[in-house]
Amino acid sequence: MAKEFPNATVYGIDINPELFPGPHQPVPSNCLFTQSNLLTRLSFPNQYFDFVYQRFLYLGLTVDDWPVALKELKRVMKPGGWIELFEPCMRVHRAGARTREVMRWCSRLLQEERGLDFDFAGERMKRLCESEEIGFQNVKLERLSIPVGPWGGRVGEAMAENMVLIFQNLQSALMPDDTVTPNSPTQKAFELMVQSWIRECEEHKSYIDYYILTAQRPSEN
Ligand SMILES: C[S@@+](CC[C@H](N)C(=O)[O-])C[C@H]1O[C@@H](n2cnc3c(N)ncnc32)[C@H](O)[C@@H]1O
Repeated sequence: MAKEFPNATVYGIDINPELFPGPHQPVPSNCLFTQSNLLTRLSFPNQYFDFVYQRFLYLGLTVDDWPVALKELKRVMKPGGWIELFEPCMRVHRAGARTREVMRWCSRLLQEERGLDFDFAGERMKRLCESEEIGFQNVKLERLSIPVGPWGGRVGEAMAENMVLIFQNLQSALMPDDTVTPNSPTQKAFELMVQSWIRECEEHKSYIDYYILTAQRPSEN
């Protein structure tokens, strides 16, 4: 984005600065990175940005966090400025039995214990953006269905690899010491489950819906 719009200044933010490019990864001079927590206060003044882009916070924000995050993003947007959100619905469509089992396991951990909402991206995200509490206007939602597995060509293969990585990472985050609780599989069972799940996605031609939401901060508030 910084390359495409050389007259703009682009700020990348994350709570974890380890994700920022290192000294050997050159970035355009109009691209800056700053560590900031979206849920406390971003280090930018009110009404600062013409455009705000947020992607893949679906595992980082609970149902209760989303309004807090959107209000903070709105605070730093100029009146009349635009926001774009890109988030997946965390459900696999055309799911087989194994996939549904994995989803149930994830749902217990992420929805019931961690307060995430698998179905937030999509209509719920749109309704929140349009609500009086957030107050965006010209809210538009687009759906992008992404195949899981080689049936979807290179994109499907990449998506399947991505899913495996996400679930491997999730496992270490959710079972830090390989703790086995009554409802959680062991390390080995987890790996086997993920592998057979990916094979099943291929058989069922499963897919995941991603949502792109665009909205505008009204010029009068
Ligand atoms: C899946 S990664 C996406 C990274 C990047 N946005 C992208 O699209 O490539 C989610 C990121 O959200 C960051 N994150 C989670 N909670 C946050 C918060 N409260 N404030 C800022 N960043 C946060 C995490 O550190 C993590 O890097």
